[in-house]
Amino acid sequence: MALKTKVAGFEFDNCIMNASGVLCSDVTSLEKLDQSAAGTFITKTATIEYREGNVKPRYYKYNIGSINSFGLPNMSIDYYLDAVKQFQEKNPNKTYFLSVTEMGEDKIYDILKIVNDSDFEGLVELNLSCPNVEGKPQVAYDFETTERILTEIFKWFKKPLGIKLPPFFDMSHFDQMADIINQFPIAYVNAINSIGNGLIVHDESVAIKPKQGFGGLGGSIIKPTALANVHAWYQRLNPEISIIGTGGISTGQDAFEHILCGASMVQVGTALGHNGPQLFERITQELEAIMTQKGYSEIDDFRGQLQYL
Ligand code: DOR
Repeated sequence: MALKTKVAGFEFDNCIMNASGVLCSDVTSLEKLDQSAAGTFITKTATIEYREGNVKPRYYKYNIGSINSFGLPNMSIDYYLDAVKQFQEKNPNKTYFLSVTEMGEDKIYDILKIVNDSDFEGLVELNLSCPNVEGKPQVAYDFETTERILTEIFKWFKKPLGIKLPPFFDMSHFDQMADIINQFPIAYVNAINSIGNGLIVHDESVAIKPKQGFGGLGGSIIKPTALANVHAWYQRLNPEISIIGTGGISTGQDAFEHILCGASMVQVGTALGHNGPQLFERITQELEAIMTQKGYSEIDDFRGQLQYL
């Protein structure tokens, strides 16, 4: 139980889980995550209707990371609400995460109304950062729109809501976005989504087909950006807003660093895709070993305690 944690008041036995998008698109995959050592799971980001996603090849793995342009393929919100309901009934003491998004403000409200009216009891994650739908921006890079969306949602949305953010790279952007987020009763912030619109060259060509090769970067190359974002939010957000750290985690040491920077929960994306759900056991053991060696008995003993020089 050394790795037990709380996100927005909900308790989890293990602070390690999957990142949305990885091995969580259907009930069979969710079942494997549910049976694994992970503390819980989050679904693939759902839209109102089923989506096929972008043309293939849309994923490329290379030595230090990954590039993807899936384009939000998913089974639809009804499918994931139904799936999570089954898990909820089987494990009434476990809290699950449901990821949602839509293209355009009105449709974002529409999907959140569907969730609001459902009997889903877990945490809802609004993905404001998908880089892979052609012609559609990463919403959270538009501060005005983000503020308007959150203002509208919190007039009527009654379930605990977190937001998935893209990486930011400028201190003034962290300041501006934190000022917006701190106005709302947001359950948690999840940092970061993939680094949007990277490009990998392979054999004199782009490595993936959609958007002429531009796609979201993941894996160990993005860890420093992820840690910076986790810590920037930790420094700026109201302490009631939990932080989930995502980006570049494949070992217990990576998870330790995210928690040290302020994360209450950590999510594994690229490495989970490459190793499968048994990976959670190894990361769990490695993190516990680091804590034992340092004399920490729970993650709150070091969460956010990053030292400065
Ligand atoms: O990198 C990503 N890929 N982030 C998302 O939010 C969605 C996903 C996709 O389906 O393209």
